[in-house]
Amino acid sequence: MSTPDTTSGAGGGKAPARRRGLGSRPLRCGVVGVGRMGRHHARVYAQLPDTELVGVVDANSDRAGDVAEQWGCRHFHTVENLLNAGVDCVSIAVPTVGHRDAAIACLKADVSCLVEKPLAGSVEEALSIKDAADKSRGVLMVGHIERFNPIMRALQAEQKNNLPIIPRFIEVHRVSPMTFRSVDVGVVMDMMIHDLDVVLMLMGGREPDEIHASGVPVITEHEDICNARLVWNSVPDESGNVVGRCVANITASRLALKTERVTRITGENAYIKIDYAAKKGTVIRRTANLAQMQEVREQLRKGADLTDLKWQELVTLQNLTVDDAEPILMEIKAFLDCARTGTQPEIDARAGLVNVRTAQRIVEQTRSDWELWKPTVHVAPGVAVRGVETLPG
Ligand SMILES: NC(=O)c1ccc[n+]([C@@H]2O[C@H](COP(=O)([O-])OP(=O)(O)OC[C@H]3O[C@@H](n4cnc5c(N)ncnc54)[C@H](O)[C@@H]3O)[C@@H](O)[C@H]2O)c1
Repeated sequence: MSTPDTTSGAGGGKAPARRRGLGSRPLRCGVVGVGRMGRHHARVYAQLPDTELVGVVDANSDRAGDVAEQWGCRHFHTVENLLNAGVDCVSIAVPTVGHRDAAIACLKADVSCLVEKPLAGSVEEALSIKDAADKSRGVLMVGHIERFNPIMRALQAEQKNNLPIIPRFIEVHRVSPMTFRSVDVGVVMDMMIHDLDVVLMLMGGREPDEIHASGVPVITEHEDICNARLVWNSVPDESGNVVGRCVANITASRLALKTERVTRITGENAYIKIDYAAKKGTVIRRTANLAQMQEVREQLRKGADLTDLKWQELVTLQNLTVDDAEPILMEIKAFLDCARTGTQPEIDARAGLVNVRTAQRIVEQTRSDWELWKPTVHVAPGVAVRGVETLPG
């Protein structure tokens, strides 16, 4: 293991004359926080042909040293040391509570940032990161990796080419067994945030008008299981046409006995099922089924008995074509493209903020209910369980 590097390096901390649009030269990259997620960022920067992994930062210097040794880069104790070494782009993968300080330090130095999801643990922190991003000459992207899942990329490509989705209701299930990771935050900030990002993207970044949420803490002090119903009311668009109502019903649990990550979107023009884990997607378009549905309608009108008709054989469905590209590789490539061209990333600070604000509304509503809960069950002396009365010891 090598020793931490605390000296200034090649870049000497001087900001280049122009940061936005770094062009095609090799980019100098760094990673802050090289735990479970950050070490993957380090690997990708080290392996891409047009990037150089300059260094990594971690509060745990043994961990930083191991990663630095693996990829032949320097390691530092602080973000400032990394910035002084001269970097163009940095991934921030410290626990969410540390995103604000690390991101603001990088953005003030005009260094482009890829911040792991969620952008921040609170709206207040997300706003201060957004403010720094608005003033910086570097770009900021939030690492909502599910957008780079092959199935989500396939859906986005389909949406751009042939299938503008007009959602009317969305059903989401993201459940998995407890891993005992990320227990410093609840299941909403840990897991549901992935789906909030996708659902809000489908709604054009519009925040829900109403939220009804309920959740239960079981293992941690936070909600470990939660259901949220998000409602967007009908509104007139710029041309005066009414944009119809949409409802999203999202369940997230980290207490399940199985793993499932499925989203079902029912739109005006299509039904879409996405299975992130299986990387499979099915689309049933209204246009592809017009003739059959017209025929069935006619038959029903005439009073025909259609009970022998097999619905599954009647419906024309399309499987989305997916590749097997690694999501984190695609995410980092998208980030680097934005840094090179100076383009605003699709998942920018505003998108990250909107996701955090929606998550916070869900958490606040869930928690407000807990104060009303009455202890009802008695357990052993000294055993403290939320909502359960402890017998006197
Ligand atoms: N995109 C995804 O699917 C996904 C999955 C899990 C976690 N995450 C996000 O990634 C981030 C990191 O999560 P993780 O699971 O990798 O955590 P982790 O605990 O495995 O790693 C975090 C690392 O940061 C280091 N660290 C902590 N505070 C620091 C500081 N102030 N300065 C420097 N280093 C510091 C720790 O020593 C540790 O090595 C979180 O924001 C989390 O929400 C994203």
